[in-house]
Amino acid sequence: MMKNTVSTFLNSKIKGEKLTMLTAYDYSMAKLFDGCGINGILVGDSLGMVCLGYKDTLSVTMEDMIHHTKAVARGCDNCLVVGDMPFMSYQTSVYDAVKNAGRLIKEAGAHAVKLEGGASVCEQVEAIVKAQIPVMGHIGLTPQSVNMFGGFKVQGKSEDAAKALIEDAKKLEAAGVFSIVLECIPAKLAEIISKEVSVPTIGIGAGAGCDGQILVYQDMLNMFSDFKPKFVKTFANVGEAIKSGVTSYIKEVEEGVFPSEEHGFKIDEETLKKLY
Ligand code: KIV
Repeated sequence: MMKNTVSTFLNSKIKGEKLTMLTAYDYSMAKLFDGCGINGILVGDSLGMVCLGYKDTLSVTMEDMIHHTKAVARGCDNCLVVGDMPFMSYQTSVYDAVKNAGRLIKEAGAHAVKLEGGASVCEQVEAIVKAQIPVMGHIGLTPQSVNMFGGFKVQGKSEDAAKALIEDAKKLEAAGVFSIVLECIPAKLAEIISKEVSVPTIGIGAGAGCDGQILVYQDMLNMFSDFKPKFVKTFANVGEAIKSGVTSYIKEVEEGVFPSEEHGFKIDEETLKKLY
């Protein structure tokens, strides 16, 4: 299987080959996805919502991200591992941004970092790239701005907002990002942005015109029932499979069906006699 790097991401765009990414937060899932041939895994700060049960991503810490990115990195042989920079790990200063990006690479084993924002974070992006750390941008519905947006809403619908997003993408490209996530923006706008920049765009709720796609795995495998965004397609009913498996387990334990002899260990009769 091909090893994915920032170069393979850039080359995929040149060749017109679609990139695939999913989120993951632990070793076993990362190993499964990596084995399927996914190009990249994002250890997203969506961690806060789908794994830790927060109502948004704002409480996620660097320590949370390092802990989970380490686990994911251990499960990946071929895919590019991108560690998400949590709220307030890069907004506060350029120094904090470089320092915290460095921790995701050095301590957690990520190959690249992602941070949210356009023009307002370009200084941080430039400094992180200067430190030899590849950066993925993220514009559109950037969940760390939920309080400024007044909720999780589609972005870039007005002329001004759409123009600002095109500018943000160009500025991120100039600042040195190797790729840009476009979240929850009109498909036609994402198509324009994808044509305007030379780095691959990775869409989530941004239509088929992006250079690649990403989804939160609990969403696409139907494992997260709190909220289902319109852009999510269910690719497998893993939530139902888990419920059915757990219900059978409860029933079999209660009825004494499990564990049966085949799931136990034997002791020889001579040893057994000495125990009474
Ligand atoms: O945190 C996350 O999972 C993300 C993706 C949805 C792009 O930022």
